[in-house]
Amino acid sequence: MSIVDELRALQAEAVAALGSVSDLGTLEDVRIAFLGKKGSLTAVLRGLGSLPPEERPAVGKVSNEVRVALEEAIESRRGELAGAALADRFVAEAIDVTLPGRHRLPGKQHLISQTLDDIVQVFLGLGYKIGEGPEVELDYYNFTALNHPPEHPARAATDTFYVRDLSGDHAAVDGESDVLLRTHTSPVQVHVMERQQPPIYVLAPGRVYRRDVADPSHLPQFTQIEGLVVDEGITFGDLKGTLEHFVREIFGPKRRVRLRPHFFPFTEPSAEVDISCGMCGGSGCRSCSGEGWIEVLGSGMVDPNVFGYVGIDPERYSGFAFGVGAERVAALKYGIPDLRLFVDGDMRFLRQF
Ligand code: DAH
Repeated sequence: MSIVDELRALQAEAVAALGSVSDLGTLEDVRIAFLGKKGSLTAVLRGLGSLPPEERPAVGKVSNEVRVALEEAIESRRGELAGAALADRFVAEAIDVTLPGRHRLPGKQHLISQTLDDIVQVFLGLGYKIGEGPEVELDYYNFTALNHPPEHPARAATDTFYVRDLSGDHAAVDGESDVLLRTHTSPVQVHVMERQQPPIYVLAPGRVYRRDVADPSHLPQFTQIEGLVVDEGITFGDLKGTLEHFVREIFGPKRRVRLRPHFFPFTEPSAEVDISCGMCGGSGCRSCSGEGWIEVLGSGMVDPNVFGYVGIDPERYSGFAFGVGAERVAALKYGIPDLRLFVDGDMRFLRQF
């Protein structure tokens, strides 16, 4: 074998060895084996001296090429192995700094707010305006001007939350405070009529308070919507038509309305309003206790005595009023068995609506 062939064979051998090297330590062993002081290429180069002078340049050139090629191959392999070693370290020493992440629940209205909005929309569509009054109210607005006699049972401290008036502006009545948490939205009727002469078409949604223990059908704080219309020539027929429209808009077109005679101090005549049961359609079932009808609200024609308190002429004007509980409407509409679910704040319940 010529020395040139020997050099080429050596090169091929070295390239093959480099291919199977898998770590930097072994790579250094291979480098020393070929290029080191006692390496095989070095040994071949030493033999150059014994060549005839005319062959030396050509062989010298080839041997130089082989040396450069080997050095390059070793360096490039070193680069590959170093890169792979670094990549392995990255994997082995990696620390996971990602956090679980914050899941944002989209916010939405509470079912009672939605129900209030639905009801308000029905009456805004009929041209009503929104009326307001305070939740901390005077006995005068909550009871007296609404034609409640002094001995009316709703005035008892067992039924109504009385508030101590620290300002001293309001004298106590019979040792009781005359400041209270309103028990219904009806006092807004008085505020509106004090501020404004007819025509009046007002809807007043708001919170009300009663000294009731929370149970499936009572809450100590709940939400009412009061309606008041005062104008010339308003009749009981207008009341009935308005309520039928309201019921069909909120509960659906199939519902029927029934007015039952009742008593409220501030309306005369008064009626309780029933809607046909949504479960049985009126034939009677368990959800309406066999009645076929479910009570939803109170209503009536404004009592002339109330007009007397606010200075509206009962000879010229007549009016109707109604009051409905938002929790009751929502419970009937969505089949909710216990009003306390509205205030428990249990997301499993609230998320459904
Ligand atoms: N204020 C009554 C209540 O809380 C409901 C009511 C009845 C309101 C008749 C009215 C009405 O405006 O005319 O039970």
